[in-house]
Amino acid sequence: MTLHSAKIGQPVSRIDGIAKVTGQARYAAEPHPAGMLYGFIVNSPIARGRIEAIRDEAARAVPGVVEVMTHLNRPHSALFEKSYMDGLGVPGSPYRPLHDAEISFNGQPVAVVLAETFEAAREAAMRLEVDYERWPHNADFEASLHQKYMPGKTRSNYVPPKSRGNAAEAYALSPIKIEGRYHLAPEHHNPMEMHATTVIVEEDGTFTVWDKTQGPQAVQAYLTSALSLSKDQVRVRNPYVGGAFGSGLRAQHNVFLAVLAAKMLNRSVRVTLTRQQMFTHVFRPEAVMDIALGAQPDGTLQSMIVNGVTDTSRFEHNMENLVIWGLINYKCPNATADYKVAPRDTYTSSDMRAPGAATGVNLFEMAIDEMAYACNMDPLDFRLHNYSDIDAMHDMPLTSKALKEAMHEGAERFGWQNRPMAPQSMRDGKDLIGWGMATGIWDAMFSPTSARATLTADGRLHIATAASDIGTGTYTILAQTASEAFGIPMEMIDIELGDSTLPECPTEGGSWTAASAGAAVWLACQSLREKLFKAVGKSGNISAWLTEGLSNNTTVLKDGFLQDKGADENLRLSLSEALSLTGQDRLEVEETAKPGLRGTISQMRKARFTHSAVFCEVRVDEELGIVRVTRLVNAVAAGRIMNPKTAASQVRGAMVMATGMALHEESLMDERVGRFMNHNFSEYHIPAHADIPDMDVLFIAEEDPEVSPLGIKGVGEIGMCGTAAAIANAVFHATGQRHRNLPITPGD
Ligand code: MOS
Repeated sequence: MTLHSAKIGQPVSRIDGIAKVTGQARYAAEPHPAGMLYGFIVNSPIARGRIEAIRDEAARAVPGVVEVMTHLNRPHSALFEKSYMDGLGVPGSPYRPLHDAEISFNGQPVAVVLAETFEAAREAAMRLEVDYERWPHNADFEASLHQKYMPGKTRSNYVPPKSRGNAAEAYALSPIKIEGRYHLAPEHHNPMEMHATTVIVEEDGTFTVWDKTQGPQAVQAYLTSALSLSKDQVRVRNPYVGGAFGSGLRAQHNVFLAVLAAKMLNRSVRVTLTRQQMFTHVFRPEAVMDIALGAQPDGTLQSMIVNGVTDTSRFEHNMENLVIWGLINYKCPNATADYKVAPRDTYTSSDMRAPGAATGVNLFEMAIDEMAYACNMDPLDFRLHNYSDIDAMHDMPLTSKALKEAMHEGAERFGWQNRPMAPQSMRDGKDLIGWGMATGIWDAMFSPTSARATLTADGRLHIATAASDIGTGTYTILAQTASEAFGIPMEMIDIELGDSTLPECPTEGGSWTAASAGAAVWLACQSLREKLFKAVGKSGNISAWLTEGLSNNTTVLKDGFLQDKGADENLRLSLSEALSLTGQDRLEVEETAKPGLRGTISQMRKARFTHSAVFCEVRVDEELGIVRVTRLVNAVAAGRIMNPKTAASQVRGAMVMATGMALHEESLMDERVGRFMNHNFSEYHIPAHADIPDMDVLFIAEEDPEVSPLGIKGVGEIGMCGTAAAIANAVFHATGQRHRNLPITPGD
């Protein structure tokens, strides 16, 4: 068998694919330790008030029930008396599960029933009787808007908007204006794998916690601080994650409650949430954006005014980078933006794929389309006319921006030049056909990350870092990176991820993992090779060609063999032979990649973003108003693409999600009880890949040695930014009707 080194940039299929489709991949709810109990969470049916009494006789009478854990009998935890670390939490006073009798949101856990079987736990949960004292609440976003505020303490990733010129005056003087309120409904997280935790109580009393998370080390930090445990008492594992999209950024209540119960009963415990229970806590905030744009008749933007509000809970300040994107991406002499949050009696809204930009970019790009039409200009030409080569909000150069190229290449692939300007001008039978476009922008981030590379006696290379592969292809691209950096076939590489004991890696999210973990693996592999060459050189008993090669720097590692550059292929040494020459049974290095490495630059000196241009075709049934997305082309400029196959899958998945945002997904609040009511797939509609027959993803060549050590910007979230707007703009082109609310419905 000939083995080849798989290079970065090749469309390699997922190396974890077989494990996933054959059921060998273990997810959080799958380990089954001996004596494990099943925990079922009971949720509050009221939005605000306090628990007056809990009667658990009927619940305890269900055969198999072991305990009903409530705020009255749960063990003590540091979480109940002090502030504690919550990895990617937000400013405020985080909700503390089972802390006391007070109810702050509908769906709040009030008890965990623990039983020998899942069915017994669920049955008993339904029999638990809880009396509540109800206090007035407000769960209506509209009504909360008059209480909007700017939190005193902001999230660490919050970018405050920055004004330029005099936007109000320029707006007043602009001959062409548009103004409107744009709205996005709240959307709930529905990954395939719901939140779940299995806590294994090991023989030595330590906990191994399998959790559905994007950050095993963040969950470990949360648990150690909440339960006053040391790092070696809690190991968190998430080797496989069934999608997350931000729902697994924060440690969720299931993991705390599962560990608390395991501590209380000294038994292994599994807590899984049902699909309905996912609707109690993880949702993208509802948003309004008031946008006013002014322009000259030739389409030159004169003024941009963006005021946005998103919802948060009463106890935490969830903030998004909602209003900045148009100010960054467009050249316009006068611009101002303002952002606030509005509190309501629900759980805190949270991050969902491209938080802030998914909402802010799409709503802003819908307004830009309106402005292009107000100027009687083609929407693509309008954007090119107002194109900025810099981060216009910070007046800062960019590491790269191949958006113009993306616009041109995407337009050509789509056939945009054949588009008639007038709405309602294409039709097929009773279908109106519309073409729309928008651009996308998202951060290109890079965070310090460590990785370990180990060569073992069998000649295999082992890579380890605490990154999470949430379905994005991280295993695969890291194997490609190691293969190229070390010079070894992918088949000889093992990748270990998703374990808090591995070298430090930030929580997966923000599309930063490829750039960050990729750089760490690259660095570790290079340093391991140097270490190997040195050790072999010192070992004395080696062939003349190798002695010579090592001293002349002509020895290379290629396809898993030490050989001489360009010399006889028969003169080569396998990795296991090389290692045995050194007299050691393993060689190991650990390296940390940080900004500044390999010519990358500090975040302070240049701004860094991914960009995209999205083109969409819709068909709208003129009689029924049904909208179908029939074609999407997304041209993405995201620096170096590690693997066009997995990267295109990321972008396609985001485009499907954005189709949900544009046309289907909407969590409907019953203000009287303060609960999102459509908490199931029969009433909360999400599209699938099959709903969009033709999706085309193009990657635009973009070399950017400054953005991250391997020139990677990351993909995934960028596919969400712009796509919903392209769909909305296509609906306008088909129908001549403007919709400023997402999802678009025939009513408004
Ligand atoms: Mo993503 S919302 O950064 O997991």
